[in-house]
Amino acid sequence: MKETSEEKALIQKAIEAKDRSYSPYSRFPVGAALLTVEGEIFVGTNVENGSYGLSMCAERAAIVSAVSRGYRKFRSIAIVSNQKEPTSPCGACRQFMVEFGDFEVILVGDERIVRTTSYELLPFHFEMEK
Ligand code: THU
Repeated sequence: MKETSEEKALIQKAIEAKDRSYSPYSRFPVGAALLTVEGEIFVGTNVENGSYGLSMCAERAAIVSAVSRGYRKFRSIAIVSNQKEPTSPCGACRQFMVEFGDFEVILVGDERIVRTTSYELLPFHFEMEK
């Protein structure tokens, strides 16, 4: 599938966020850009900590940012790193994404893009009744 201009813009925002990554321990910068159904974009980057387990992934940072501004319905998230192959979200981020439903997940590598969805990445996921 060809990149649409909307997708290109989202990926560009994710790249800019990645370039602001704080990842002195892993040296693995990640950026995410989250598009809401209203057309707003929220970005996140990974923020690591000397107490390693406290490190925050880019995807979760973007979702926290959107929800903090009152946005909970998402159309798409683009995730980029500096790798040749697309970076696939960790298990914690998958669970964090499905909390907000099924939306498109665009995994961007230098050489190819994989388009999937939050539900596809975490089948038979845990969900609490609201
Ligand atoms: N990381 C993300 O931010 N998102 C992912 O999808 C995979 C991993 C971060 C966590 C850590 O700061 C670094 O990448 C290496 O694991």
